[in-house]
Amino acid sequence: MGRDSSAAQQNPTGAADGRGGGRDHPRRHPAGTAVASRLGIMAVQMAPSILSADFARLADEAAAVAAVADWLHVDVMDYHFVPNLTIGLPVVEALHKHTGLPLDCHLMISEPDRWAAGYAEAGARNVTVHAEALQSPVRTLRLIRAAGARAGLAVNPASPVEPLEDLLPELDMLLLMTVEPGFGGQSFLDIVLPKLRRARAMVQRHGASVWLQVDGGVGEETIERCAEAGADVFVAGSAVYGADNPAAAVQALRRRAEQATARASWQR
Ligand code: DX5
Ligand code: ZN
Repeated sequence: MGRDSSAAQQNPTGAADGRGGGRDHPRRHPAGTAVASRLGIMAVQMAPSILSADFARLADEAAAVAAVADWLHVDVMDYHFVPNLTIGLPVVEALHKHTGLPLDCHLMISEPDRWAAGYAEAGARNVTVHAEALQSPVRTLRLIRAAGARAGLAVNPASPVEPLEDLLPELDMLLLMTVEPGFGGQSFLDIVLPKLRRARAMVQRHGASVWLQVDGGVGEETIERCAEAGADVFVAGSAVYGADNPAAAVQALRRRAEQATARASWQR
């Protein structure tokens, strides 16, 4: 059955993704921003993952969430770092031309040092590389920023965050994988939540403006736990594109995350 995405074909802000626009905040959904400021909390950011979208209709699938999402999460997999193969630079370049949403490229690839800056040059607003695959983290994170994107660093569920503490000034976002990377539709790993709390404490201790992103198994049942533990950027693939109305799914997830953030202890 087809999904009803017609309600969200227009971007009400009319904002375009200025490529290479630096590490500014992405365009925020006005409703989300208003709720957050009324509650006096940090804004929640929603990043639908196109891994669960129809790859033959990517521009339409992006348009389906353009009015309600903050980012479009793009999973790049190379069959080496993870046992799955998706898309690469040409598709990112093409997608960039066809959506106003800033692209959040999550590189699950070997040799990210070699390829990461190219994704920023292709139009990604954020480029996230995996700590497990990097040879020269500082150089690569700096190259991403120099190419005009925000620099993200990802860690797998079993990888610690403490060794990354000194790298915080080089980062704009820390991604804590809440499934083993490689596939959409997996079950959320609760064992990552204590690490998320420690990561939030670490960021706060340094007064760093680093966003904490969660990715994998994030949906109606799990998003509140993530927000309470310290996440402020939420990737959701199957929970969005598996829904009859992806835009409505993003809005429902955002509401849950905002409510959980408002009562989270790390906000006080
Ligand atoms: C998995 C990817 C995720 C994926 C999440 O390795 O990094 O971004 O799309 O899919 P869900 O939300 O279905 O777990
Ligand atoms: Zn991802």
